[in-house]
Amino acid sequence: MEGGLINLSSGLPDAKVVPNADSSVLQIFGGHRLHGHVKISGAKNSALVIMAGALLCSEDCRIRNVPLLADVDKMGQVLSALGISLERHDDILDINASEIKTSKAPYELVTQLRASFFAIGAILARLGVAQMPLPGGCAIGARPVDLHVRGLQAMGAEVQIEHGICNAYVPGNQRRLKGAKIYLDTPSVGATETLMMAATLADGETIIDNAAREPEVIDLANFCISMGAKIKGAGTSKIIIDGVPKLHSTDYKIIPDRIEAGTFLLAGAITRSEILVSSLVPEHLLPVIAKLKEIGVNLVEEAPDCLRVLPTDNLQATDIETFPHPGFPTDMQAPFMALLTLAEGDSIINESVFENRLRHASELNRLGADIRVKGNTAFLRGVPMLSGAPVLCPDLRAAAALVLAGLAAQGQTTIHGLHHLDRGYDRLDVKLQQLGAKIQRVSATGTDMEFIKNIGDSKVQIST
Ligand code: EPZ
Repeated sequence: MEGGLINLSSGLPDAKVVPNADSSVLQIFGGHRLHGHVKISGAKNSALVIMAGALLCSEDCRIRNVPLLADVDKMGQVLSALGISLERHDDILDINASEIKTSKAPYELVTQLRASFFAIGAILARLGVAQMPLPGGCAIGARPVDLHVRGLQAMGAEVQIEHGICNAYVPGNQRRLKGAKIYLDTPSVGATETLMMAATLADGETIIDNAAREPEVIDLANFCISMGAKIKGAGTSKIIIDGVPKLHSTDYKIIPDRIEAGTFLLAGAITRSEILVSSLVPEHLLPVIAKLKEIGVNLVEEAPDCLRVLPTDNLQATDIETFPHPGFPTDMQAPFMALLTLAEGDSIINESVFENRLRHASELNRLGADIRVKGNTAFLRGVPMLSGAPVLCPDLRAAAALVLAGLAAQGQTTIHGLHHLDRGYDRLDVKLQQLGAKIQRVSATGTDMEFIKNIGDSKVQIST
């Protein structure tokens, strides 16, 4: 960075599609410092739900800052299957949902992409009928949708679940949902988003109490408001929506991905490097920044949307418990575990949002970490170093944790199961390469395939 000017262009090579993850592995030679600047992409968990939200509008919608992810491609396939037209130009997505040709979402796609289930609210609001396959459980938990269903029923929808399909329709000749008072037992992000979308076109006022407060929920609300929706209180636990008859076109830019931003801050910390992370929103990262400082990581706010990580000598052990926002984000739990494997002292990590989200612990132990798991709690004893080994990603955020650990481990780490990583991180390996990491995506060899076969990996993973 010469003369204090920060070159904020992403500098990423143009890419149209996600590389084929199934036949490749990542090779990382750890122990190298990083340097330079990385620009964060748009938020996955905004992009997916805002793509669903575009179904609410019968005119053109332009969505900017869309990340290049396998999950976004898959959501695009779901929308196309519904008869929606989409066009992508780099990080711009043009969607026209003037005609939804069918209310029946494709079974094989929805069961692989949980976020596509959230479209049920928008389809029901537009058509008064929807056949949405249940997303089912996945690597990190059972992932029920009872809160989504109960909320839609409160808004007047009849819902029957049979043969794995959620059949919903709105009785009456108007086939229009009606406003309702809804209380969510748990502040579910997806249920809040499904019901908020459904309520934008409903007849009357809807109140969602104990709503999720995640930044991506606010992003969806702002997207809907930009189309003319009447929404108040997004970001608080009480959201009030006044239904309108129709929404109009919009041109909307998605917020940066706070989980990708946190992952790069951790990459700087775990390699004891100085790097600049730009195009982030610090207030979306308050629990992450607080935890990094507790561990002893030096962070400097370089500009309103930039954080600089400075070389950190000794990392201090600490405890983590995951909570709904504004608590510590469950999506950062695995990446933080990677950092804490090298902290001085004992750390305790309690995963209280999902029931099976500690599977990365055993893979980190393959790299020399000292972690014991009991129920939803991991007990870590810091070790002086990690050593490279072949590892297999069990889910999306575990994949990021294994990449971070590989950057710090002495020797070579080979990461298998890249389909998990490519669902949720926009060219993570390319961005790390540009920061000086010794990381490359290579074709899987026979021994790689042997490794996967031996330690097994459930093939069908639902995107989270
Ligand atoms: C969203 O999932 C995110 N996914 C997840 O990100 C994130 O981890 C999660 O919110 C929590 O922040 C997307 O936005 C696409 P929840 P979601 O409903 O909506 C229970 C990632 O890695 N629950 O807030 O599915 C549920 O079982 C992914 O990017 C019900 O009981 O999460 C869980 O224990 C992983 N009934 C808790 O609520 C329901 O009807 C929180 O889940 C719905 C949820």
